[in-house]
Amino acid sequence: MDRQEIIEKTELFVKETLSEDSTGHDWWHIHRVRNLAKRIACHEGADIFIVELAALLHDIGDYKFFQGDEEAGIVKVRKWLSSLEAPPSLIDKIVEVTSQISFIHTLTDKGKGKSKKNSSTVTISKEIMAVTDADRLDAMGAIGIARAFTYGGFFNRLIYDPNIKPDRAITKEEYKTTKAPSINHFYEKLLKLKDMMYTPVGRKMAKRRHRFLKLYLKQFFKEWKGKM
Ligand code: ADP
Ligand code: NI
Repeated sequence: MDRQEIIEKTELFVKETLSEDSTGHDWWHIHRVRNLAKRIACHEGADIFIVELAALLHDIGDYKFFQGDEEAGIVKVRKWLSSLEAPPSLIDKIVEVTSQISFIHTLTDKGKGKSKKNSSTVTISKEIMAVTDADRLDAMGAIGIARAFTYGGFFNRLIYDPNIKPDRAITKEEYKTTKAPSINHFYEKLLKLKDMMYTPVGRKMAKRRHRFLKLYLKQFFKEWKGKM
């Protein structure tokens, strides 16, 4: 099977798998991440085929939808690519990317000190950088805000509760089980992303999206207090 065919078949598979999603991890999230990742990959000289394929598959087995199982994605990606008879070396490369990009890898385990700025993997390839930056950018700005409230609504979270303070040093376990309001998520994740970008182009875009997040929060709290 040639590369084009692998991409086309994978696109159909992912569209079908995520067709019922209403948590903000739907096909259009994948579509945006794929395009952004390819753009970043061009700037960085990363392997476009690996980046595109990994972007397509990056949320296929998200732990959030498999009872917190962080291995679910690896199993699903391997199974899918094996069904296409992709060479083991390609499968390994894709798994290397898709297993590294989640924000959760940057959080510490309970009682283990400061959170990591980025994934603890020893070598971060250009391909990992491109897909990770793209995924993180889609959690910021206007789209990131829409996704956060979509996710919160799906999981019955409040918009905001002044009595529940955000935990900026949230641990991995707490992040996985939190029931906190969606606004807290801005402080626990979204506002941290600007300083976690790997690439110059990602950083530049993140700056603008970060500014919008801050503007949004400013307006939100003015309205909350009835000042506007
Ligand atoms: P990753 O895709 O890197 O694993 P997450 O799954 O934590 O990152 O987040 C993906 C998106 O889901 C976030 O950008 C956010 O919009 C939404 N999300 C995740 N957790 C929460 C939460 N507790 N409250 C609101 N939105 C959330
Ligand atoms: Ni994603």
